[in-house]
Order: sequence, then C-alpha cells, then structure tokens
Amino acid sequence: MQVFTDPGDLSAWSDVQRVHGQRVGLVPTMGALHDGHLALIDETRRHADVVVVTIFVNPLQFNRPDDFATYPRPIDDDLARCEAQGVDAVYAPLANTMYPEGFQTHVVPGPLADVLEGAERPGHFRGVTTVVAKLFNAARPHVAVFGQKDFQQLAVIRRMTTDLDMPIEIVGLPTVREPDGLALSSRNRRLTPEQRVAAVCVPRSLQAVRDAYLAGERHNDALVRIGRATVDAEPLARFEHLELVHPDTLRPADPVERGTVAVTAVWFDEVRLIDNLVI
Ligand code: PAJ
Repeated sequence: MQVFTDPGDLSAWSDVQRVHGQRVGLVPTMGALHDGHLALIDETRRHADVVVVTIFVNPLQFNRPDDFATYPRPIDDDLARCEAQGVDAVYAPLANTMYPEGFQTHVVPGPLADVLEGAERPGHFRGVTTVVAKLFNAARPHVAVFGQKDFQQLAVIRRMTTDLDMPIEIVGLPTVREPDGLALSSRNRRLTPEQRVAAVCVPRSLQAVRDAYLAGERHNDALVRIGRATVDAEPLARFEHLELVHPDTLRPADPVERGTVAVTAVWFDEVRLIDNLVI
C-alpha cells in the first residue's frame, strides 16, 4: 500500500494507473475509520481496479473549534485498516499542504447547501465542496463513493460534479448500522456508555416516522411531531431538527410521499449525531 502526503505524488501515481488501463476509485474520509468506511472501500472495489482512500480532517468544514479539536485522529489504526482492506493508496496530507499560506480559492455550493445541515452549520458545505474538489484533482479518480448517511453532502457533491463538468462517477452507499440501528459514525466514539444506549432513539425516531407514514399519516407536521416525541422521551438526548424533505431539492415535502427523506440531528451533550431514512 502506497501512502502519499503530497498531491503531486498522488496525481503521478494515479496517472500511471490510468496509463495501464486501471480504473481509479476514490473514498474520501476524515479517518477514524469504522465499518461504514470499510463498506465504502468494498463498494469502490466493485466499480474500480485500484482504490485510493483519503484521510484528512478538513478544518474548512468545521464551524465549531471544539469539534475540530476533539475529532478522533487514530492514524496508525486507520492505515492498518486500509492495508487489511486491500487499499492500494492512502492520501493523508497535512493541513498546511492542503491549505498553504496564501490559499484563497473556494468552491461555493448553491441553495442545496443552505438548508438542513447548511442552515445549522454555516460554511460547512463550502468547506466540503472545496476539499472534495481538491481531492478529486489530486487523485484523478474515475469513480468516487460516498455514504448516504450524509445525505445532503452526497446531493451537494453530485450537484458540484455535474455543474463543474467533473468527469467522475459518483456512487452513493446505503448507511451501515449497528445491530440496534444506530448509524456508524466516527463521532459515536465520543459517547459515554449511557449516551450510546440512549442514542438508539435517533434511528427509532426515524423508524417511528416511517411506521406512521405506512399507517397512513401524510402530513409533514404530524410526522415530525411523532418522530420528535421519540427523541424528547430520551432524557440524555437533545432534539435539534427533524425534517421531511424531497430527496432532490431537499425542500419540505407536504404531503409526504414515497421517496421523501426524513433527516434528523440530535445532541448528546457536546456530541451531535445525524441520521436519515428514506420513507
Ligand atoms: P467522514 O465523516 O469520515 O465520512 C467519509 C465517508 O463515509 C462519507 O461519504 C460518509 O457519508 C461515509 N459514511 C460515514 N458513516 C457511514 C455509515 N454509517 N454508512 C455508510 N457510509 C458512511 O464525510 C466526510 O468524512 C467528509 O465530509 C469528507 C467527504 C471526507 C470531506 O472532508
């Protein structure tokens, strides 16, 4: 497994792969790899001959300094997991390689990035699109794989690739969950054992929305109230938002219909978890 820290070295390696007729697949991550990330790597193998994983905790997309500072960075573990998963190359640049002095150009997403997560975390998606564009340019992949766990991120990245004529196929992978339904996330590591037990209220609230929909409820407000009640019943959880949106526009769906996505964010002390479910 090759490990690169410089974008030029990665590009040169990728060019050699392309010359040899290999399809290059990319999995962008911020590290602290879990089974959800490993599923992305496996999925990428199905679409490409060689797999590149990037590991970079991107300061541009954090709007809370404490979240950035406490984000886990187990790099040795991550490299071992990549190696065991048969990854061909890892790109793990330093922050001052990604954003050297004088850096000032960004990729600015449109209205898709202003709602939901974008409304709660101003500037977040601008940080994501900027770093993903840079990762695309460094790795020059044919295909890149992202998780549906970050539903809005996937939509914003698809839009960017289309709008900017990036010749890269974007693949979305369904959310990988723990046996009790909690979506795998690097942030789960920061939950106390009690909070971890309580966190099951997040997928349960989405399930409650889906169940009520299947039982015939179609009103957006009513479904949100039902989902919210599941979170409010958990003393360790602090409800932030639950919205039922159209999967393409991310605008509120009313009446709710098949294909509508329930998107939520819930706090456990200082840890913020997000999840979503297609109805
Ligand atoms: P990160 O949170 O590390 O996630 C990397 C990729 O793993 C994303 O595509 C995310 O959607 C996917 N992922 C996370 N949890 C998952 C789960 N439980 N099941 C399936 N896929 C899952 O998302 C980012 O990093 C960053 O914003 C990044 C795109 C790397 C840009 O910095």
